Amino acid sequence: MYNINELMERDYRPAVNPQKNSSYKLTLLVVALKVSVVIICDIFHWFINLFKSSEPENISKKLALVTGGGNGLGRSLCFRLAQEGCDVAVVDIDYKGAFQTASEIQEKYKIICKPYHCDVSDKNAIYKLKNDVEREMRGVDILVNNAGLLYTANFLTSNVEDIERAVKVNTLSQILMTRIFISGMIERKYGRIMSICSITSIVESPTMVTYSATKKGVDGFIKALKEDILVSGNDEFIKLFLVYPDFMHTREEISNVLDAVKHFLPRLSPDRVADDAVNGLIAGKEYIYATDIMPIYYAAKFLTKNAKKHISTSILDSSIFFSGNIKNKTL
Ligand SMILES: *[C@@H]1O[C@H](CO)[C@@H](O)[C@H](O)[C@H]1NC(C)=O
Repeated sequence: MYNINELMERDYRPAVNPQKNSSYKLTLLVVALKVSVVIICDIFHWFINLFKSSEPENISKKLALVTGGGNGLGRSLCFRLAQEGCDVAVVDIDYKGAFQTASEIQEKYKIICKPYHCDVSDKNAIYKLKNDVEREMRGVDILVNNAGLLYTANFLTSNVEDIERAVKVNTLSQILMTRIFISGMIERKYGRIMSICSITSIVESPTMVTYSATKKGVDGFIKALKEDILVSGNDEFIKLFLVYPDFMHTREEISNVLDAVKHFLPRLSPDRVADDAVNGLIAGKEYIYATDIMPIYYAAKFLTKNAKKHISTSILDSSIFFSGNIKNKTL
């Protein structure tokens, strides 16, 4: 282990080429044999489990924290979790929105719901949030990393500050929130982390270059974290969930931009996506595709160059995005 800051202060020292130990081939063979046995056992267990019906998890009385819970999908997720009997910490940079969500939930469900103000791209704000939630409520059981900015722009003319903000809010925030909240989950031997990713992390599309990159970052982060948790043995009680929602009607400005796409893109309601996400969570489904047209998205990956061009110039009317005279950014 080393500290990145210390390492950057030092002069670069090239590593010496390691000498291969002569017995390494034997070691490799032994490892390969052992791994084969483990794989056979895993297949056997998987087969046995096929015949067991697994009960959905009871998450009643758990404490869920939802980032970006003031509006849009986050708000729907808060309601849906409250419906399952969770207490909810509604976190948003828009405190008015968080307060509104929390008051409505508090009135409708017999659970405890509190609003919190936090800029989740700021590490100090996250530490403060954790202290406040633990003092006023308790340790978080279910962390829903939802906060994000749908950012559409012509990459070549996009604003550098907007790009930086999108990366911080969409990707950095999820990594920091997870890092800061996971320790308590491991201590308490229970944790569910749900990461809201995007269909655009699976299907790359024009005008969403930065956005796709931020969501692919989230996807890669959670997948790598799964490996880490598995190897450390924490996978028994920490479960990670990736949600890939299709486009939704949320913020007005975003809907206006999507309208420019001639209603070609499907648009789901945030309630529908929240429903898929929470149903997936209690069913223990690690990858949740909240869309009706997944086969079309997969097929789109195999389109030829000219077919892609045809779609983005005729159907999607990308001139709207590339002309530069319509709002070419949406934050
Ligand atoms: C779910 O868990 C809660 C609290 O742990 C308990 O009160 C409730 O009875 C459980 N519900 C079911 C259907 O098992």
